[in-house]
Amino acid sequence: MPQMLNVSPAEQGVRLINLHRPDVLNALNTELLGELAAALAAIEQDPDTRVVVLTGSRKAFAAGADINEMAERDLVGILNDPRVAHWQNISAFSKPLIAAVNGFALGGGCELVMHADIIIAGEDAKFGQPEINLGIMPGAGGTQRLLRAVGKSLAMQMVLSGVAIDARHAERAGLVSEVTQPELTVERAIALARLIAQKAPLALRLAKEALLKAQDTDLASGLRFERHAFTVLAGTQDRKEGIAAFQEKRPAHFTGQ
Ligand code: CAA
Repeated sequence: MPQMLNVSPAEQGVRLINLHRPDVLNALNTELLGELAAALAAIEQDPDTRVVVLTGSRKAFAAGADINEMAERDLVGILNDPRVAHWQNISAFSKPLIAAVNGFALGGGCELVMHADIIIAGEDAKFGQPEINLGIMPGAGGTQRLLRAVGKSLAMQMVLSGVAIDARHAERAGLVSEVTQPELTVERAIALARLIAQKAPLALRLAKEALLKAQDTDLASGLRFERHAFTVLAGTQDRKEGIAAFQEKRPAHFTGQ
């Protein structure tokens, strides 16, 4: 079976993961999701990789769950779906994950994009939750993460109508942080990833965790978590190094200790 995922070697702390099922616009079948979850789990343990960029093709980041595979699953099949564990593993990735999105990001593709911490989109990108057209609804975070990202009215519009929004609309709504020319999307995401890869890994990890907490906790608990995380970082070598580098007017060299 050909690999459905290309994972680059780590370069300047960054790996590029490319979804690769070109015949079906990178439709996310169980195998592809499993490969992605396994690749991220391996990268989690790799100290040379500090940031990951995830991308698809120029035509499609991913056009959703694989509808043909889904058609074969009945209620019990969906109850026992191994994809749930794959999604959980993807969402547990603790390093910064940047999605570089060109073309279609639909259904499970849009849900995968929303697992990323930062989304860079090409001008031709389209984000949508078209499940309603299949007589179903999003099932991998599309109602929960989309509402948190773009607010109630637009999330309702997208999920209930199935109509996708373009990259500029996604940027205005806060789903996407930057829009680029499509031929520059991956390049821009990698440049941003390399910048982030120079920062202190433990600070990145805790900052990511604190920001994600803000989405699903009340303010007082979030602030408590932030203060604890901030305090924990006081014990790291990298904090000493960062402050010393500032005082000595030199670039900091962070090791993750
Ligand atoms: N699953 C399986 N195959 C898919 C697919 C998908 N999600 N999306 C596209 N393909 C296949 C098409 O069947 C087609 O295959 P053939 O060449 O063998 O016919 C090939 O990819 C190219 O697609 P199109 O010819 O349709 O390309 P297009 O440019 O005309 O249209 C599109 C592109 C608008 C994205 C259209 O393909 C489309 O609507 N795809 C389905 C999108 C969708 O409904 N996604 C949601 C899936 S459900 C889900 O995601 C649920 C969940 O997570 C829980």
